[in-house]
Amino acid sequence: MSYHDDYAPSSGTRAPRAALSSDAPRLDLSGDWRFRLSSTVDVPDDFAAPEFDDSGWDTLPVPSHWPLHGYGAPAYTNVVYPFPVDPPHPPERNPTGDHRREFELPDGWADTATVLRFDGVDSCARVWLNGTELGFFTGSRLPTEFDVGPLLRPGRNVLAVRVHQWSAASYLEDQDMWWLPGIFRAVTLQRRPAGGLDDVFVHADYDHTTGLGTLRVDTPVPATVSVPGLGLAALPTGAPVTVPVSPWSAESPTLYDATVTTVGETVRLRVGFRTVSIVDGVLLVNGEPLALRGVNRHEFHTEHGRALPRGTMLDDVLAMKRHNINAVRTSHYPPDSAFLDLCDEYGLWVVDECDLETHGFELVGWRNNPSDDPAWLASYLDRMRRTVERDKNHPSIVLWSLGNESHTGANLAAMADWTRDRDPSRPVHYEGDADCSYVDVYSRMYASHAETDEIGATPGKPFVQCEYAHAMGNGPGGLVEYVELFDRHPRCAGGFVWEWIDHGLRHPEHGYAYGGDFGEPVHDGNFVIDGLLFPDRTPSPGLLDVKKVYEPVRFAFADDTLTVTPKRGDLSGLRVEWTMPDGTTGEFDLPAEGGTVPLPPVPETAEETWLTVRAVLAADTPWAERGHEVAWAQHRLCDPAGLREHWPGVRPSRIEDGITFGPGEFDRTGRLTSFAGFPVGTPRLELWRAPTDNDRLARLHDTWTANGLHRLTHRVDEVVVGQDLLARTRVAPAGTDRGVRVDYDWKSLRDGLLLAVHVTPEGEWPEPIATLAVSLSLPPTLDRVRWFGKGPGESYPDTGSAARIDTFESTVDDMQTPYVRPQENGRRGGVRWATVTDPSGRGLRITGLPLFGLTVRRWTPTALADARHPTELVPGPTVELTLDAGHHGIGTASCGPGTLPDYELFLSETEFTVLLEPV
Ligand code: GAL
Repeated sequence: MSYHDDYAPSSGTRAPRAALSSDAPRLDLSGDWRFRLSSTVDVPDDFAAPEFDDSGWDTLPVPSHWPLHGYGAPAYTNVVYPFPVDPPHPPERNPTGDHRREFELPDGWADTATVLRFDGVDSCARVWLNGTELGFFTGSRLPTEFDVGPLLRPGRNVLAVRVHQWSAASYLEDQDMWWLPGIFRAVTLQRRPAGGLDDVFVHADYDHTTGLGTLRVDTPVPATVSVPGLGLAALPTGAPVTVPVSPWSAESPTLYDATVTTVGETVRLRVGFRTVSIVDGVLLVNGEPLALRGVNRHEFHTEHGRALPRGTMLDDVLAMKRHNINAVRTSHYPPDSAFLDLCDEYGLWVVDECDLETHGFELVGWRNNPSDDPAWLASYLDRMRRTVERDKNHPSIVLWSLGNESHTGANLAAMADWTRDRDPSRPVHYEGDADCSYVDVYSRMYASHAETDEIGATPGKPFVQCEYAHAMGNGPGGLVEYVELFDRHPRCAGGFVWEWIDHGLRHPEHGYAYGGDFGEPVHDGNFVIDGLLFPDRTPSPGLLDVKKVYEPVRFAFADDTLTVTPKRGDLSGLRVEWTMPDGTTGEFDLPAEGGTVPLPPVPETAEETWLTVRAVLAADTPWAERGHEVAWAQHRLCDPAGLREHWPGVRPSRIEDGITFGPGEFDRTGRLTSFAGFPVGTPRLELWRAPTDNDRLARLHDTWTANGLHRLTHRVDEVVVGQDLLARTRVAPAGTDRGVRVDYDWKSLRDGLLLAVHVTPEGEWPEPIATLAVSLSLPPTLDRVRWFGKGPGESYPDTGSAARIDTFESTVDDMQTPYVRPQENGRRGGVRWATVTDPSGRGLRITGLPLFGLTVRRWTPTALADARHPTELVPGPTVELTLDAGHHGIGTASCGPGTLPDYELFLSETEFTVLLEPV
């Protein structure tokens, strides 16, 4: 057995310790390395010799993943291992990347203790310095250090690293993400001065009853600690000191700069005081219930994979703060430490998760699952130790997580015991410990609303939804209802939306690639595209909804008053202002704890009028500028006046080959052929939509296609031309006797035509339908859209919290939401009226009686459903205008509960009316 198929996690490495910012000199070894890729492990290791001639090798940047630089290809699987399940053996075809780096030793470094540090290498590396082997290591997202002092030479040194994509450790790293080997985090040399400080453990508790903080800094050798901001100078480490402090919280992340000094070294720390506790089943920090309004974050960059640029980490933190997200679960491994520094600084609660997942064993009935096999105990403990030791000084971390989806077993219990012993200040989390025998919080993923409610109402350990609201494609639906439950039950500490970003890798042909796009024989398709951010980090509609439902402020309107209450923190940093549609604005004067204020006077108007109130930042903060909107709400002040009917208008009349009726021309069978001079395709009933990921994966879509919703046939039965024009039709798919009677009843009204669509089901329709709508084809030049309704973004019955009521303007192209895998998207809900016009302003106006859903696109639902990537969507010859009376909700059934009953759509007798007028 060789090291790459051995249970042992490493050899020759140093004991894990805290990530420290020290004044000891460091040498960053990032940059261009020499690189050679082999397809097996069976290659000579003569390249480790300093004199080896690598001039024929390529150059590869480090940090990086080699498949993203043209060597081999990325591969995506969720649960299934892409190799035979035969632990501890990796597959024989095992891409092996040999890396070489020459460096000049800085002056004065020879003959001193020095550490070589790797922050992340996927998945197994063997290391040589100047031809001498140092050892090997596994644990892709964990740090590793070697003592290298005696091997360093003045002048030229040669570091050689052999990286195998697969190893025994791959069985422990079956996280749902791209398989991406490489040296993907920093490599550094760090000098260890005589009398230096190898490790520091900061204990900084806060007593909310007294306002006092207690600081104790533990060090392996005697040292002194200074915290100038607290007036503490050169205190001995190891002894507690208690002083008045401002506590650390995600809302108010007060950090105190501290230094810890020995004769040889000074380490800089940022100390945050907080105490995590569990009282009566409620998870508290500083005596306050913790309200985790979180997301799961994988490290991902569309070009760099998990080799994240620093700036991207800051982008993530800022985007989270700006979208009211206050917590991150580092699914499913410790992130680059720099990300945790940012969480400390900007304020995000963190669940720091160990690099562990053995999910693929589920597919073999959990036989030989490493979690309960003593052969793997050392590896499990090694991973947890490296996590806790590296990250123990971050005030942002409030829970340790043992890993993800590794079933259960003694090795996990041992990790929990070790962790609690090493750091009693933080509770232990692991979702797989269903009966909480070794964890401190009860954790679930994707529990339904009903179950969340039930758990919340049952006494027990604090409840965390470590994953919920699966954000794959269009959605997540049902967010509001989850957050209401979190708000209602003290036992619910909150949850983490799955997940932060779509892992779409940039691809020359497809735009963004997902599983299968690199020809992987085993893959899980677009299940890796399930984030709140698109791969380029543009917010999806789902993220905007998260921002709305995670608002830290509650607004409650009564007849003529508004009550504003903080849900987290207080209102002191916020200004609460109001605006009317006519542009008048004002500000409410509110104390920090909130209060009730009178509403501004109602304007005199017959139009539907909405008051908008907004809580905005009163001053610049580190994460957003003054004026940034934190929360908002709307209140209807005046109801719509309704249509003033001019009745009767013109009558329809038969002409040579059809019927003419006001602005409309019809064929003899009563089908609209032109309107206001534009050729149009007649309104046709639609019951289907291009399936969302949720529709598809939950097989609702199979029901729809089995029922033939996507292949309806239309038959005209009768045309009645009288005062009005009535076309009676029957709509049904082939092969069934079920159908729908649809009467299109046209009346003249104002300058246009009123269309009442009367729908009567025939036969049984027990299953939900996708939508109830009519579609018309318009000329492609009609591509400007204005509407009064919800916007600016999309909304479906159970999504679109972020949409507000106003008048919006856009274009057909801009109204498409660019989901990485094409699917139903872009609907605007609650529309009162809309115009669809050409650039000169001519076209059509649609008025709802009272409301409709509006969708415009340059392709049919079938084309949308057939495309696997947006690049395959080719504009057709028309603009398809769809006016709906309803949609089935979106839900989260791609992984989690489906649409809540209130948002299901069933076919029933319906009348749906719109007014079409020329513009
Ligand atoms: C969970 C898992 C995540 C992810 C998610 C679905 O079961 O923990 O890693 O796979 O489902 O996207």
